[in-house]
Amino acid sequence: MQIKTESESEILSKKNILVVEDEGIIAMDIRERLVSLGYNALDSVSSGEEAIKQVKLKQPDLVLMDIILDGEMDGIEAAQHIRDQFNIPVAFISAYADEKILEKAKAAEPFGYILKPFDDRDLRVAIEVALFKHELEVKVKDREKLVEKEKQDLETRRREFLESVAHELRSPLTTIKGFSELLLKSQDKLSQAQQQRCSELLFNNISKLEKLIIDISELSRIERGVFELSKSKIELTEFLSNNSASYKLLLKDSFEFISDISTKVLVDLDEDRFHQVLSNLIDNAIKNTPVEERKIIMEVKKLKKRKMIQIKISDNGAGIESKNLKLIFEPFVTLQTKYSSKGTGIGLSLCKNILKRHDGSITAESKGLGKGSTFTIELPIRRN
Ligand SMILES: Nc1ncnc2c1ncn2[C@@H]1O[C@H](COP(=O)(O)OP(=O)(O)OP(=O)(O)O)[C@@H](O)[C@H]1O
Ligand SMILES: [Mg+2]
Repeated sequence: MQIKTESESEILSKKNILVVEDEGIIAMDIRERLVSLGYNALDSVSSGEEAIKQVKLKQPDLVLMDIILDGEMDGIEAAQHIRDQFNIPVAFISAYADEKILEKAKAAEPFGYILKPFDDRDLRVAIEVALFKHELEVKVKDREKLVEKEKQDLETRRREFLESVAHELRSPLTTIKGFSELLLKSQDKLSQAQQQRCSELLFNNISKLEKLIIDISELSRIERGVFELSKSKIELTEFLSNNSASYKLLLKDSFEFISDISTKVLVDLDEDRFHQVLSNLIDNAIKNTPVEERKIIMEVKKLKKRKMIQIKISDNGAGIESKNLKLIFEPFVTLQTKYSSKGTGIGLSLCKNILKRHDGSITAESKGLGKGSTFTIELPIRRN
């Protein structure tokens, strides 16, 4: 004869149920029924105090609780305690359908109420409903926690953004104030060349301020989704080779354009915005590579399976530490690199947002400091 034994996984997948019942025979009967219904019945207990101890120790999936129990505590109080302390569902099993008791039981927010006498079907339905309700409640609570965390993160980001804006505005303003004061108070003491220098510094800092304000307002509008793109059907191969011709003119032999595309590729594109994306990436590559060894490559590929076009812009410059590869797409993040004069750190966050609005993406890769960087753009190809 073959004896069928339960596998470990079968035992583990069974729900553990604790019966709290002061009448031994009834407790035994319920436990037997639980086993025959496919649950794992833990050793029953007869008082609320013991129930709390066992719940703490065994962490059952469900407690079936009689209302009248041995000891000081009744089933309702014990259920309240178990719910508050352990977040484990309790269903009442009782012969009492008295209005007052029902009202009191309701306050313990039970996951079910099974009236004695009950048959196996009633018991199974009550248990499954209680387990399901609890699972749902856990999911809702997790979701609420997530929403709350997202809210807090957003608030932190908003505050950080405002602080950064104030900080970025302050530095050119201080310079402007200082030099205009100098011109106002001591113009007659300054030589022609010094006055010229002051005016240049004023102009540069005012231009910096102007760029900053335009970038901030663009970023804010694009992040809020109130930034209208004027997309049109663009043939990307031609667009890129025209663009790369102007980079070639500027960068001569330190720039290379590689494309494996021989056919036309149509993309829905806001030309000006996309131009802004490429310009920032090329500008970043220039700023972060030494002039003498500079090599900037723009490579275009068709990702046929995913119906995407991929543009990689790589350089052999300062490189980026892996911990910063995501961070640089956040507004105002600028890293200290060997070569670059500090920018405002808005360029890449604008790129990210512009590409997102084109259903595309941008990512950064680098083998580490001093080992160059590669920025990869992906854009969906239009069907026709
Ligand atoms: N090719 C690159 N190599 C190394 N570091 C880079 C490269 N591109 C960007 N970074 C780093 O990422 C930071 C953020 O770039 P981002 O374009 O957002 O700002 P920025 O160039 O400093 O200023 P701007 O707002 O004028 O573009 C840069 O300050 C730089 O530290
Ligand atoms: Mg930049």
